[in-house]
Amino acid sequence: MTISRTKFPRTDYLAWRTMPTRWSDNDVYGHVNNVVYYEWFDTAVNSLLVDAGVLDLAQSQAIGLVVETGCAYFASVAYPETVEAGIRVSRLGNSSVRYEVGIFKPGESYAAAAGHFVHVYVDRDSRRPVPLSAPLRALLEPLVVPPTTSEPGVTLEQDRAVVDRIMVGRRSVRAFLPKAVSQATVHEILGAASRAPSGVNTQPWQVRVLAGEPLQKFCDRLCDVVDDPEQSAQHQYEYAYYPHEWASPYLDRRRQIGWALYGLLGIQRGDQERMHAQNRRNFRFFDAPVGLIFTIDRVLQQGSWLDYGMFLQNAMLAARARGLDTCPQAAFAQFHRVITEALDIPERQMLVCGMALGYADPAAIENSLQTPREAVDQFAFFQGF
Ligand SMILES: Cc1cc2nc3c(=O)[nH]c(=O)nc-3n(C[C@H](O)[C@H](O)[C@H](O)COP(=O)(O)O)c2cc1C
Repeated sequence: MTISRTKFPRTDYLAWRTMPTRWSDNDVYGHVNNVVYYEWFDTAVNSLLVDAGVLDLAQSQAIGLVVETGCAYFASVAYPETVEAGIRVSRLGNSSVRYEVGIFKPGESYAAAAGHFVHVYVDRDSRRPVPLSAPLRALLEPLVVPPTTSEPGVTLEQDRAVVDRIMVGRRSVRAFLPKAVSQATVHEILGAASRAPSGVNTQPWQVRVLAGEPLQKFCDRLCDVVDDPEQSAQHQYEYAYYPHEWASPYLDRRRQIGWALYGLLGIQRGDQERMHAQNRRNFRFFDAPVGLIFTIDRVLQQGSWLDYGMFLQNAMLAARARGLDTCPQAAFAQFHRVITEALDIPERQMLVCGMALGYADPAAIENSLQTPREAVDQFAFFQGF
């Protein structure tokens, strides 16, 4: 398959190294031989790590071994030119990293060659895989690009099919299996989500991630309040998520979804006890193994809440891409005082919402809820086509 050079623009690379060519790099055809490019990839990435202090070639206990590599060549380079190596990371795993390196002639917009290699980090002595160190992860996270944008060999049609399938496949899930989600997976999801755009790159998100005992303790503390009508009545939303006065068509949509959920669960109109019990499940994150609590700095304004929504959606889609499901939950916002105290959240942070994250229980009837959407022509008004 022919890969177009235009899939590798300079703007897609995030860290840079400049490299001289040497007399001996040229082969009998008068240009840099293909094997030299692989030396450039190694040199570029390792010098980035060494300069940042996250790799000591002689001392580091964890070392990166190359387990896969490849390169596409678009234009020749010859001694005595200088080349620029652009670096980005297309996958940051638990103990592996997929680096992509573009070789550019100075000033050129598209790569002369685009390569990649996968490092698996192993213990220097045992050669067993080890998790990426925190400093290495911190260095590489800002270099991560979404893997589908310019993956060699991936067509736009394939990208579109995947993105649409994941977007359309996302649903709010309200029953989860008791199957753990690793910290590395949540880390990865949040890292991908943080590629969300935000006005002047403000990145307004902060998140508390709970699992295991801290999660259970948190839910117990909250449910003590939720279960006591007197106490519960003293807690109000700090911001208005819903309108003060419901009007059509929003009221109709709200009713439709409410009754559809209760209908599936066999909850009759007026059955306050079962409605409360279902609502209460919010505060146990619907038994998900991971609970997320999102906050925003109070100095930020409405625009940052727009950005926040994009971040939340990104997180939900990144979860889907890993076989996980979510339920965004504004319900937590009512109990912001209990929550900020329980999680020691500073006063300057305001609670936005929570989110349940885990593996959906396919047998749970509430997870079969399908929510309708208006047709595009009902909300989009086209002109000039
Ligand atoms: C910010 C936000 C807050 C939400 N809060 C809750 C909540 O507290 N409890 C709940 O069960 N669902 C909550 N939902 C889920 C909505 O009910 C759901 O997105 C909507 O009905 C559309 O269904 P779908 O997500 O399955 O497509 C929330 C959704 C969003 C976007």
